[in-house]
Amino acid sequence: MNDHALSGGYTDGDVDTNLSGNPHLSDMIEARYSRRQTLRGGVAAITLAAFSSGLLAACGDDDGGAIDRGVTAGQNGQTRAGKTVTLTGTVQGNIGQGYWEQTSGPAVTLNNAGTNVASFTAPAVSGPTPLVFRFSARDALGGQTYTAETTITVDVAILDFTAVAKNLDDKVTVPAGYTVTVLYRLGDPLANGVAAYANDGSDTNFAQRAGDHHDGMYYYGLNTTGNGRDDNNSERGLLAMNHENINQSYLHPAGPTGNGTSTPRPEGEALKEIEAHGVSVVEVRRQNGIWAYQPASTFNRRITPNTPVQINGPARGSALLKTAFSKDGTQGRGTINNCALGTTIWGTYLTCEENWAGYFRRAATDNANRSAREVTALNRYGVSQGANGSYGWASVTPAGGASDTRFRRWNATVDTTQAVDGTGDYRNEMNQFGWVVEIDPYDPTKAPRKRTALGRLGHEGAWHGQWVPGRKVVIYTGDDSRGEYLYKFISDTAYVAADAQAADRLAIGDKYLDKGTLYVARFSSDGKGQWLPLVFGQNGLTPTNPAFPFQDQADVLVHARLAADVAGATKMDRPEWTATNPVNGEVYLTLTNNNATVRPLNGTDAANPRHYNDPKGATNQFGNPNGHILRLREDGNNSDALAFTWDIYLFGAGADLNAANINLSGLDATNDFSSPDGLWFSRPTSPAGQAIPLLWIQTDDGAYTDVTNCMMLAALPGKVGDGGAKTITNTGAGGATATQSTFVGAAPGVRLKRFLVGPKQSEITGIDSTPDGRTIFVNIQHPGEDGGPANITSNWPQSQGGTPSGRPRSATIVITKDDGGIVGL
Ligand code: FEO
Ligand code: CA
Ligand code: CA
Repeated sequence: MNDHALSGGYTDGDVDTNLSGNPHLSDMIEARYSRRQTLRGGVAAITLAAFSSGLLAACGDDDGGAIDRGVTAGQNGQTRAGKTVTLTGTVQGNIGQGYWEQTSGPAVTLNNAGTNVASFTAPAVSGPTPLVFRFSARDALGGQTYTAETTITVDVAILDFTAVAKNLDDKVTVPAGYTVTVLYRLGDPLANGVAAYANDGSDTNFAQRAGDHHDGMYYYGLNTTGNGRDDNNSERGLLAMNHENINQSYLHPAGPTGNGTSTPRPEGEALKEIEAHGVSVVEVRRQNGIWAYQPASTFNRRITPNTPVQINGPARGSALLKTAFSKDGTQGRGTINNCALGTTIWGTYLTCEENWAGYFRRAATDNANRSAREVTALNRYGVSQGANGSYGWASVTPAGGASDTRFRRWNATVDTTQAVDGTGDYRNEMNQFGWVVEIDPYDPTKAPRKRTALGRLGHEGAWHGQWVPGRKVVIYTGDDSRGEYLYKFISDTAYVAADAQAADRLAIGDKYLDKGTLYVARFSSDGKGQWLPLVFGQNGLTPTNPAFPFQDQADVLVHARLAADVAGATKMDRPEWTATNPVNGEVYLTLTNNNATVRPLNGTDAANPRHYNDPKGATNQFGNPNGHILRLREDGNNSDALAFTWDIYLFGAGADLNAANINLSGLDATNDFSSPDGLWFSRPTSPAGQAIPLLWIQTDDGAYTDVTNCMMLAALPGKVGDGGAKTITNTGAGGATATQSTFVGAAPGVRLKRFLVGPKQSEITGIDSTPDGRTIFVNIQHPGEDGGPANITSNWPQSQGGTPSGRPRSATIVITKDDGGIVGL
């Protein structure tokens, strides 16, 4: 029609979802301007007013002729939360560069707003929400400003990826459009001068290398210059992560030497195994679009089972914690079997000691030298008389002589020649473990602090409730063993917002985490529940209790399991991670699985309702082999409430299992799973964690592994009560049946999709993102765990790059979306 053919206009970027049946505006534009704008999916909700505001103005002016001047803002369009939207304004005639501004709708940050082409990230919304943008440009001669508007309607987020198929491949599989990069592997050097990892069993000095069995993890932002904290930096930060355990055989040239009983373990091998446990703090940076860990960063740190730690809280100085190393019970050495995590708003990392009990040796006759109380406690925690202790470390005879107690300490046997208060041996060393440990990732000089107020148990994680100024600080923590409990800690002191950026972070930890009350959960058959306080002197936690005479509050906390028994807590199907919905505060809890002994046919309850068989090949698996995910809403939506309402969000199951009684969430090939473990909501700093936040579910499975390797799924959960009551029929061995009533959440359908499948014999555990949600970090634990040097059963992570050789290594991976978008949306 004219010489000033307009180009550009509203380019759709990620705006490719047409939710309507409306006609294409492009056809209308073509009719008027003889051109076609780029539209992939079409547009809807056309507002002619907005469109017509951009019509060209034909003016007679001092150019001496009729020149068309004007601007266009592109067409109205629709998109989804989290998508990148590009706005392209065009000018015609003698008009300078334009600029963009938002005129209505939830405020967004416009990038390059002072130019013709601006962009923004569609905000999280709870329903279709229009955002209006105005493009303006000034006539250089006449001073007239021309404007045009466009309306972008943002709809709720969806899981906008194609589900990954179950598979048994030796690599990490992610959806099309995503890329996996291996970031930080077992043995990677953490300081200058540490040799590259040979990965042949010859490597030493794991106190300066990445440990094994990467697990819980959190990203702590650094400022751009790398000398301080910046919670919002998505390009540079510290990953704090746990190294839960080891694949022992791969750490040595030909597997371990000595069995620790008839033959002693060599010192060098044992030290390597000990130091491969613990925690890493490692700096990571994204430069030129590529993430890499920084081997020479001064923030890099390993906390091993030998690192000095401080005992804090009510059990500090207790007679129960006195050892030859810590004669006053206030200090300790290190942390072990660190599983999941917590984080605090004041910038510290909480690492959680889970299966610590198995590392201790006790002589077969040790009970005879213990009090009845001690024997009860040792049995309750699984520190068994006659146990060799994992990996037999106590058998080492150190070259440094008897003064080197780094190995001796793992023998908790009473030495009858030593003081009865335990200050001459390590009879109490097991009481130094089973805690939540707070670490300042920004300060390598600070000793970690064991927060005894949170109780001694097999802590899976320690995830916080809502941070609400004026309300108490709350930490949820599961005790991962069959039939164990869910706990929560409530601080004595209400949260003050100014503490979030305090300089002395561990002092803030002292303030909130050293004084408070530990509670344990009781789930009722009516869908309600209560938090039962574990306070000395109350509810049978007294010196006259016949099962276990409690002495004081330190005793209650050191023996929290025994206190919870007395309180009447509900035995669960192995409590693993918890996660708190950042929008509504509802708390999710993975219950990974249970066996038929602890969850028999006639031993189900409303919160642990299933008993069934899931055959694996020719082997029957009775009990609850696939696990479930429970969620609860605290009364008043207050994390520090003492009562709650619950339902079961998801039931793990193969899609082929009975839909009426086992596959109660209606899972199909795109989302069936077993044994949920890791659990994390997307950060509330990105649209993925707002309005309807994404929940990420990771599996540690042995029941479904004939069909698929372990996996990670993404979900958009509803809320407690979105389903209803249901009575199921359980079937035990021999065909006996029993009914059980429970509360089942709404079936997820397409709001649950498999996002990732891991390599062979791995577990997927540990996840966090950058604050912008565009990079996620995921840990791959123990690939090839069933093999050894003579029988390597996985070559990951080498296999990720196509090299099918070499010993497997646990590692942190980075996952990004190829278009730079927000992961999962
Ligand atoms: Fe370390 Fe319960 O997983
Ligand atoms: Ca776990
Ligand atoms: Ca696990």
